[in-house]
Amino acid sequence: MNKAELTTAVDERRTFAIISHPDAGKTTITEQMLLFGGVVRQAGTVKARKSGNFAKSDWMEIEKKRGISVTSSVMQFDYDGKRINILDTPGHEDFSEDTYRTLMAVDSAIMVIDSAKGIEPQTKKLFQICKMRGIPIFTFMNKLDRDGREPLELLSEVEDVLGIETYPMNWPMGMGKGLKGLYDRYNHRVELYHNEDKGQTFLPLDEDGKLDPSNELTKDSIYRDVLDEMELIEEAGNDFDEAKILSGDLTPVFFGSALTNFGVETFLKTYLKYAPKPGAHKTQADQKVEPTDDQFSAFIFKIQANMNPNHRDRIAFVRICSGEFDRGMDVTLQRTGKKMRLNNSTQFMADTRETVETAVAGDIVGLYDTGNFQIGDTIYSGKNAVQFEKLPQFTPELFMRVTAKNVMKQKSFHKGIEQLVQEGAVQLYTSYTTGDYILGAVGQLQFEVFKFRMQNEYNSEVVMDPMGNKTARWIDPEQLDEKMSSSRNLLVKDRNGDPLFLFENAFAERWFQDKYPDVKLTSKL
Ligand code: G4P
Repeated sequence: MNKAELTTAVDERRTFAIISHPDAGKTTITEQMLLFGGVVRQAGTVKARKSGNFAKSDWMEIEKKRGISVTSSVMQFDYDGKRINILDTPGHEDFSEDTYRTLMAVDSAIMVIDSAKGIEPQTKKLFQICKMRGIPIFTFMNKLDRDGREPLELLSEVEDVLGIETYPMNWPMGMGKGLKGLYDRYNHRVELYHNEDKGQTFLPLDEDGKLDPSNELTKDSIYRDVLDEMELIEEAGNDFDEAKILSGDLTPVFFGSALTNFGVETFLKTYLKYAPKPGAHKTQADQKVEPTDDQFSAFIFKIQANMNPNHRDRIAFVRICSGEFDRGMDVTLQRTGKKMRLNNSTQFMADTRETVETAVAGDIVGLYDTGNFQIGDTIYSGKNAVQFEKLPQFTPELFMRVTAKNVMKQKSFHKGIEQLVQEGAVQLYTSYTTGDYILGAVGQLQFEVFKFRMQNEYNSEVVMDPMGNKTARWIDPEQLDEKMSSSRNLLVKDRNGDPLFLFENAFAERWFQDKYPDVKLTSKL
């Protein structure tokens, strides 16, 4: 590719994640988008993978059958002149640090909210990470075909709880059984609900934002109510501000119903108009790498081992930041200085999992890994060394004490732990006093994967003793006195040897702070 071709290719990329609380409709909306992209022909295809009725070893088989990558968590397709990469952020019991790290690799996020429920805890957490990265967030208020909460109430909740301005791009005309359509403020039209068989779906609005008076709908009280609400929003609401959208300070809000495919395509089209193309990435030397730079560079944000014990391979998920990726190219792994040839790569088209030949900034490539890579690693071509900023460490909330079941097998136990911790599968802490190993995670599944892999990949059976939820708080080593440790605030060391307390609960933390008012405690993200 020459520079002009590279620039065009980068301009077409849109890489995003869909975040939501479990059951808000993320899978359903993803599936609708894939339908628009023509990559799945049948609704239900993506859903099938979520139901969990398959043994984990069947994953590869499911991939083949369903024509969708199950293990990959990346879906790529073309729509409206754009090449779209959707990165999955697993919810449910799959929730883990991986979910957070995925947000490091996207350029924007779509937040799906159940309009009957509003903001739920998981959304809030994921949202905070988007906010920290300053990436744009687009909101889809889902399930309009059911009775939900008042739209104004939902908007003010988003503003209050998440601390972001909202701009409604459209407004529901009724909801549940009384749903008539969407008053589309942005496209200046009304989108009728379930009107396909009656012909016209879109009715134009005049300059004053009104429908043709001869239209039946103008006699409906819902229409008049919407006009009133619109007036209120025009006067008291926020202005549409593209710069604020791009800085993540204002979220455009769309209403709709993923299940009945209402408002989803309108949403996708408008979203693609404002969602940013791949931007520059900062290096540790505080330099910016532009996506159209000639030199190839990328970072690893996720490593996934195949859960199938017959396939021992791991896949490193790589977000390309600049230049062109060509299969077989030579790169340097910055952390070790090791040179390597990238022969074995895979790209994640939603319909097939195929060998990737070329890719550019914004794309995600899977590299088969034999143990070279760690999460956060940078790879680059050419002579100029690049190291992107560190990926943040997250504060785990769940803890387990872990020991080897068979004391004679300490070696494989230590090797397994060391490698899995390096990979970022779980976090490791050691007790100050006893030297016990304690694992920390943000989601229960991380422990299960750990246990499974210790046994299958390292032949080490482990015993895990749940310690429950704890609040992890780091302490400045200068201020530390080992006597501060108690059963309610256990003193441990993290991987870097930095001390922290695991507090039993918020009460224990407050008690500690009262006792040691000068001690400064900090958390990670
Ligand atoms: P998730 O990935 O965010 O967890 O949510 P998912 O799409 O799986 O949707 C969760 C449930 O909500 C599903 O129902 C789905 O059909 C339903 N749903 C999604 N969007 C809408 C919508 O716009 N309107 C309505 N009424 N329901 C919606 P389920 O009963 O859990 O599954 P299923 O019986 O449909 O398979």
